[in-house]
Amino acid sequence: SSQASSSSDGFLKCLSASIPSQLVFTQSSPSFTPLLKSSIRNPKFFTPSTVRPLYIVTPTNASHVQAAVVCGRRSGMRIRVRSGGHDYEGLSYRAVRPEPFAVLDLSNLRAVRVDPQAATAWVDSGATLGELYYAVGKASGVLGFPAGLCPTVGVGGHFSGGGFGMLLRKYGLAVDHVVDAVLVDARGRLLNKNTMGSDVFWAIRGGSGESFGVVLSWQVRLVPVPPKVTVFNLPVTASQGAVDVVARWQQVAPALPDDLMIRVVVQQKTANFQSLFLGTCDALLPLMSSRFPELKFNRTYCKEMTWIQSVPYIYLGSGSTVEDLLNRTTAASVFSSGYKATSDYVRKAIPRDVWTNIFTQLAQPNAGLMILDPYGGQIAAVPEAATPYPHRAGVLYNIQYMNFWPMATADGSVQTKWIRDFYAFMAPYVSSNPREAYFNYRDLDLGENVVVGNVSSYQAGMVWGQKYFKGNYQRLAMAKGEIDPDDYFRNEQSIPPLAKSK
Ligand code: FDA
Repeated sequence: SSQASSSSDGFLKCLSASIPSQLVFTQSSPSFTPLLKSSIRNPKFFTPSTVRPLYIVTPTNASHVQAAVVCGRRSGMRIRVRSGGHDYEGLSYRAVRPEPFAVLDLSNLRAVRVDPQAATAWVDSGATLGELYYAVGKASGVLGFPAGLCPTVGVGGHFSGGGFGMLLRKYGLAVDHVVDAVLVDARGRLLNKNTMGSDVFWAIRGGSGESFGVVLSWQVRLVPVPPKVTVFNLPVTASQGAVDVVARWQQVAPALPDDLMIRVVVQQKTANFQSLFLGTCDALLPLMSSRFPELKFNRTYCKEMTWIQSVPYIYLGSGSTVEDLLNRTTAASVFSSGYKATSDYVRKAIPRDVWTNIFTQLAQPNAGLMILDPYGGQIAAVPEAATPYPHRAGVLYNIQYMNFWPMATADGSVQTKWIRDFYAFMAPYVSSNPREAYFNYRDLDLGENVVVGNVSSYQAGMVWGQKYFKGNYQRLAMAKGEIDPDDYFRNEQSIPPLAKSK
């Protein structure tokens, strides 16, 4: 429309005063498509019908981000922020419905500065988890950081939704260790923990950063890890009794000592038990035989290594190296698979006969997989309202459901239907009122914003907001009302603003 094109002209003209032109890409620029594609992780959002940005801006310092926000506001151009591009629904670089927007791609803002004496680090949002882990591992052999498994996940999005991985039982979420942050708000102001105010600082640590502005960097507390850890991976097939072992795991894993994390990936007829133990094999053996004899663990499964070596080993496989943590590019083989995912939290162990049924369903053609992450320990010790992430005490484990398909030969409708049907089947066995879900495993099936009078509706947002944030949704909406009452920063699942007086 002519309105859209005039706001585009205004946006570009405004940017040209503050941002070098080589950092601004229009759709006609030859670099636009490769840049757009560079960190897309779910290629189902890279098709001819995908609603793409009109511009991509690649800031190299904070003033560029401030200018992009100020210009965007002034010219009516909305901004979507992209750090690592791993959003399950692609909301960092695509819109569900046609709308003019620009992507602010933070991949140039990715410094990691570690202070091993203070056991802290400043990490820019455009860094990947792999870059953060690598820098921590270089600086110290006895410090680590508790965040996700996949090294190409971006710090910006990951911290914005909580962030958990193999250290979750020992140390909780990534955001449980964030002590300061730098934020550009909708007025283009550069704010820190003190100047953004305690409600906003609370909100950005897991309550969807993109609702509140652009988080440029985060200061984190690092955590102690022993010089040697033990990793194991133990597959159990259905014919070896996987149903019984998984049913038992539900009781055992959340109650183990915090040093021991045993997650399960259930795919087809096999349950893969993947573990990180903060100690030696000698210390692990008696623990396994007393607490979880059903797994039939023995010394041959033990792999001892440093914590930093365990990170690529667990996610990328035994042939990988610590240097592989620095590889930001998505492998072509990964990019060729579209996927659909969603999540649940389990507060009461699922009966054994239901697990028999689950295994049968997972063995069907076009079925997906389940990842079970045990809770308990430190993640459960933090009060529900301490951060926006509310899935704490009483959760036995988190479930992630995923289903993949080859983009070249399938459109994903069968696999997506499988996920939806399976999610419906699981309803009686998982948390309810609300049925809890993990914001970082974003699923638009849970609900989308409704815009009323150019502002996202608080009421409509409750449908998905309470699943992700439970009772914290209202406080998030009030923080949004404080920092961005006009709802400039919005997407299909951003926090709607709520005025304090309501
Ligand atoms: P992306 O750049 O797509 O951003 C995600 C959302 O955050 C978007 O809405 C975006 O606008 C917003 N955002 C990004 N940067 C921002 C910033 N600087 N300021 C404000 N808003 C910002 N999770 C987990 O907890 N544990 C795990 O082990 C894994 N493993 C995993 C593996 C794989 C292969 C994928 C694809 C994803 C995961 N995740 C995960 C989920 C992951 O934590 C989630 O997708 C994150 O939001 C991704 O962050 P990115 O910066 O990469 O995404």
